[in-house]
Amino acid sequence: MKLMVFKNEEDLDMAAANSVVEVIKANPKATLGFATGQTPVGLYQKLVQAYQNGLVSFKQVTTYNIDEYAGLAKDHPQSFYYFMKTHLFSQVDFTEGNIHIPDGIGPDLEEEAKRYEAMLKEAGQLDVQILSIGLNGHIGFNEPGHTLHAETHVVTLTEDTREVNSRVFPSLAAVPTKAITMGLGPMIKAKKIVFIAKGESKANILKQAFQGPIDPLVPGSFLQLHPNIEVYLDEKAAQYFM
Ligand code: F6R
Repeated sequence: MKLMVFKNEEDLDMAAANSVVEVIKANPKATLGFATGQTPVGLYQKLVQAYQNGLVSFKQVTTYNIDEYAGLAKDHPQSFYYFMKTHLFSQVDFTEGNIHIPDGIGPDLEEEAKRYEAMLKEAGQLDVQILSIGLNGHIGFNEPGHTLHAETHVVTLTEDTREVNSRVFPSLAAVPTKAITMGLGPMIKAKKIVFIAKGESKANILKQAFQGPIDPLVPGSFLQLHPNIEVYLDEKAAQYFM
């Protein structure tokens, strides 16, 4: 694990974005795994800037998002598709057909999970996977529990997760109860993981994930097994690291 701790968010986002840009420069047809949430917004802004400054093109890049809520259409303001479109896809030169996000509104979520997994298998090893972690240790929507999945699956969101994520919904009741998430398999197999976390609220779970035992009750702890993970933290998030 390559741990980097930053005094300010701007530098953290820039360093993480540079790591992604390097991958695309080396291979313009790179495959990228994307996460959503508040944490990577700054990184996506830096990728947009790199594109605007002519440093990188996303035209030939293929992307796979790690999760999507069940029941939210692409144009729903809280869907992850909408998030990605707002923060990144609509601002750079991605080729629409190269963008992949699980479809949360199909008639059969289990079938959609199988379709998504087959596509990931066909794509092979991701060149870089961008990740963060939930307050309860989840990665994507791989929630804490007695078992973890390697493959894409339908998940019932924990009440913790629904509560935390309700901050961007009109009410708790409006937060979907299910989602489709990539399993841990493609993340662990990715050539590189760019992992970001910020703020005091994540400090405790980060310590457990990266310095505690590997435990399905802390899904992020499985990232310790990755041979090439870059961990970008601000000082508050890193405060319990020794
Ligand atoms: C969403 C995802 C989640 C988030 C996590 C942290 O695609 O992968 O695991 O990374 O919930 O979210 P924020 O960044 O909002 O704290």
